[in-house]
Amino acid sequence: MTRVLVTGVRGKTGVPLAGLLAARGVEVLGGSSDPSTVTLDGVRPTAFSWDDPSGWPAATAGVDAVYVVRPDRADAPGLLTDLMATLADGTHVVLLSEQAADQVGPDGWSPAGERAVRESGHSWTMLRPSWFMQVLTDRRFYRDAVAGGDLPFPSAGARVAWIDARDIAAVAAAALLDPGHDGAVHEITGPDALTLPRTAELLTRATGHPVVHSDVPAEEALAGLEGFERELTELTFDRVRAGVFAAVTDTVERVTGRPARSLEEFLADAAPELRPAAQR
Ligand SMILES: NC(=O)c1ccc[n+]([C@@H]2O[C@H](COP(=O)([O-])OP(=O)(O)OC[C@H]3O[C@@H](n4cnc5c(N)ncnc54)[C@H](OP(=O)(O)O)[C@@H]3O)[C@@H](O)[C@H]2O)c1
Repeated sequence: MTRVLVTGVRGKTGVPLAGLLAARGVEVLGGSSDPSTVTLDGVRPTAFSWDDPSGWPAATAGVDAVYVVRPDRADAPGLLTDLMATLADGTHVVLLSEQAADQVGPDGWSPAGERAVRESGHSWTMLRPSWFMQVLTDRRFYRDAVAGGDLPFPSAGARVAWIDARDIAAVAAAALLDPGHDGAVHEITGPDALTLPRTAELLTRATGHPVVHSDVPAEEALAGLEGFERELTELTFDRVRAGVFAAVTDTVERVTGRPARSLEEFLADAAPELRPAAQR
């Protein structure tokens, strides 16, 4: 039986990926810094924390492949190098990176993280997704603002080809289990590049309450963030405004055989999560 460690298993891509792998008969180790919170069917909760490398050998013992959700912290490239050194020869690595990661420049943080995997000696696949649709329903991101009728997002008119994390998971499952993905760099986007006003319009339609996009200054969107998180978020919004996330690819269809979900399809499932707090 194939054994796969899914890091970030309670995150946006980890949950659907674990389900897809379990359905294909894989022994799924669900990595989390808090394994007691992992309650997914067919998944073995597994202690995995970027803060505790001493636990990595046990978490990765006997695995055929690892799905690595890059930690968004300054020391990620070094942590990824160390994790790669922990893996047995022959372990395939699928890294969740970000769209057009090399446009950040050769000395940037994203390319350095990818390099740690590319130069590790393991076979690898890069996943480079656009913005996840699930940020609209995640309470750590936009859920409460959207539920309150507001989508504050500094876009300067640029478009975003939102991708459903379930489609990223489907590409990840193929890259982990099927032949033909070694050395592949998959740029993964949804089917439509949407302006933020159009995104708000679709949210309005799906939720039944008005949602208005406000093109807030980046400074306002960055309020409360500090240090590396602030730098990374600022860079990401710069990339939004430069149109980096407007590119549309056919990767989901090419890899999985079915088209990427549209924002309308995502919202048809997710709209109940965006009801005002009192009605949830
Ligand atoms: N979000 C996007 O639009 C986007 C776009 C492109 C690339 N990416 C990249 O994708 C990666 C994942 O980013 P993400 O923002 O989507 O994170 P995520 O996968 O939703 O969560 C990441 C981790 O946060 C921890 N966590 C803490 N509180 C949680 C909670 N309440 N619910 C679920 N998990 C919680 C979990 O790790 P523990 O279980 O170990 O605590 C989880 O695996 C990052 O490398 C990011 O740069 C994201």
